Amino acid sequence: MDLARRLDKIPPYLFVEINRKIAERKAKGEDVISFAIGDPDMPTPGHIIDGLCRAARDPANHRYPETYGMPDLCKAIADWYQHRFGVTLDWPPTAEVLPLIGSKEGIGHMSFCMLDPGDIALVPDPGYPVYSVSTLLAGGEIHYMPLLERNGFLPDLDTIPLDIAKKAKIMWICYPNNPTGAVAGLDFFEKVVSFACKYGIAVCHDAPYTEVTFDNYRPHSFLEAPGAKEVGIEFHSLSKTYNMTGWRIGMAVGNSRMIDALFRFKSNLDSGIPQAIQIAAIEALTGKQDEIAVRNSEYQKRRDKLVNVLQEIGLEVTRPRAGFYIWAKIPDGYTSVKYTAELLDKVAVAVTPGIGYGKSGEGYIRLSITQPDDRFDEGIRRLLTFKKRR
Ligand SMILES: Cc1ncc(COP(=O)(O)O)c(C=O)c1O
Repeated sequence: MDLARRLDKIPPYLFVEINRKIAERKAKGEDVISFAIGDPDMPTPGHIIDGLCRAARDPANHRYPETYGMPDLCKAIADWYQHRFGVTLDWPPTAEVLPLIGSKEGIGHMSFCMLDPGDIALVPDPGYPVYSVSTLLAGGEIHYMPLLERNGFLPDLDTIPLDIAKKAKIMWICYPNNPTGAVAGLDFFEKVVSFACKYGIAVCHDAPYTEVTFDNYRPHSFLEAPGAKEVGIEFHSLSKTYNMTGWRIGMAVGNSRMIDALFRFKSNLDSGIPQAIQIAAIEALTGKQDEIAVRNSEYQKRRDKLVNVLQEIGLEVTRPRAGFYIWAKIPDGYTSVKYTAELLDKVAVAVTPGIGYGKSGEGYIRLSITQPDDRFDEGIRRLLTFKKRR
């Protein structure tokens, strides 16, 4: 049989490869500590799980879910946006809120809603791989926007060539940023809105990390920028905010034409989010929020430990104010793949090479702070010995 040629355009998903390498080592009896993947180690808060269990026992939730998303969930999302960001969103019949099976699902499908073959997408480099992969699968072309340290890892919109800006259909941005840990102010979002208005570009802001923050930092929503709803949408997720990666639930909010297009596309492919999980999400968004601060202070301690040890072993690191990730500059003479391989070989510590997120990620490695404390501390000890073994 022949597989579709479109699959030739895409590499294996970065983390599938990394997990495969870690599994190989583990199969040989090696105890690998992984700083590679950003997946909360702390459990989903108990009251959310209680809501999920109650809903799972109710036969009304055993049938096909409401395809759009339950009205109560749309309302909970709109209320959360109002309360958290001061952003007002309408929900059905005016579609400014759409629940998703995790934000990755919506991000991947959005490219198919916006791009015809040959259309250009503006994609951050380095960036979460799904922006570029979904562009390629939809037949689009990528214009990378380098995220450079000297620009605070924000794209420099003034350097996008005029012919590209005129042809581009969609722009991806992500703050707090994965993988660099950078944050963006409202002034940057305002600049993006005026650029998008000028050239007729649809903006997709991917924002799953706004609630994982340190040092009392409070990130903005893209939709707080005046006019943002006219040009774009924001993807959000319960994965990182409420330690719910395993349950798969997120949302897209903002421009109603884009939201409507995404719903039209995905409702032809999936049949909605299991209702018990939607009910758990309502519990998460409307219930007590105190565990977020407790969790963030745990992450902050880990962030500080990891930044300190990386600096001690000779890497250049900026202390991030949000997100799970430390973006560390490796010494000259190494590629990110070589440095990553040495860490795995010499001290059985897995991290991700910056090149995996794009060409401008070369020279960096990314480490996540989502290992349980005992494993995390063991990883820290191993990193310290790495310096001596080099
Ligand atoms: C930048 C970014 N966007 C989106 C996602 C997807 O999150 P989810 O599909 O769990 O909502 C991730 C997950 O790691 C991410 O880092």
